[in-house]
Amino acid sequence: MEKIIFDVDTGHDDAIAIAMAAGLRDEIDVLGLIATNGNVALSKTLENTLNVAEAVGLECPVFYGSSKPLLRDVVAAGDFHGESGLDGTTFEKRKKQECKGNGILWAINTVLNNPGEITFVSVGPYTDLAICIKAHPDFAKSLKRIVVMGGSMGRGNATDSAEFNIWGDPEAAEIVFNCGAEVVAMPLDVTLKVILDEEILEKIKSEKDSSYKKLLLSQLDFYIKANKINNNSMPHMHDPCTIAYLADPTIFKFEQRNVHVETKGALTYGRTVTSDIDENAKVFLGVDANLERFWELFFKAFRALK
Ligand code: BDR
Ligand code: CA
Repeated sequence: MEKIIFDVDTGHDDAIAIAMAAGLRDEIDVLGLIATNGNVALSKTLENTLNVAEAVGLECPVFYGSSKPLLRDVVAAGDFHGESGLDGTTFEKRKKQECKGNGILWAINTVLNNPGEITFVSVGPYTDLAICIKAHPDFAKSLKRIVVMGGSMGRGNATDSAEFNIWGDPEAAEIVFNCGAEVVAMPLDVTLKVILDEEILEKIKSEKDSSYKKLLLSQLDFYIKANKINNNSMPHMHDPCTIAYLADPTIFKFEQRNVHVETKGALTYGRTVTSDIDENAKVFLGVDANLERFWELFFKAFRALK
């Protein structure tokens, strides 16, 4: 059982990742969700996270994280997720839990009190995790490991050089990749291979009706259109790759490399610069996925949700 702290900037693929974690409860124990600034502003990612957690029956506390990156100005990904961060989504009116307060303080205490047991998963900009690492000298060494979505060994998607989660806070990403803990990263090199295509969409539609099916189809309605307009493709399952990895690491192939983040270049700000393959490197970069097994896991989670 993987005990995780799940840091999210809830847009559409974050929401799918949260739902997957909720459906895979025999494999993954979400100790708490922290909403952070990223795809949209913190107030919106927090509202989205509370709504999604309630809708998928994930019984864990929801906290707030950072409202701004460490140094740079705030950037957003409105083209893909809309003004609310989850445009198109219709939530049933339900009484949702209140935010439980500052997630950074909670994460530091929780990790230090459970050394070696907890994996910190970050699928938005890594600001919260970088603050935890800098706030306490034992934080990084008390983690079991870190799992992130982000980076690219080739081109970026936010700019030609930078993937969005790194672009959102390059200085934080440099801290995380070099904190000494083991980092498993899902860069664009692998996540761009995991596409929710027409065949998968039809399969979702043919599944038994459930509240989650209704919710997911409402999310996909907007997300598919946004991806067609901005990317000329069906949506990529960026953030769900982290959850699939935690439930079944053998789905993915990795290369072990050192990673630094460009924080000075005018044209290359936010680029992840990787070394040659190095068996002593602390970062494991996802490079390939067994798509059949990824989707098997996705549907296993989907069917477990009401
Ligand atoms: C990342 O950017 C965000 O828009 C997605 O949620 C994902 O975390 C992909 O580059
Ligand atoms: Ca995200």
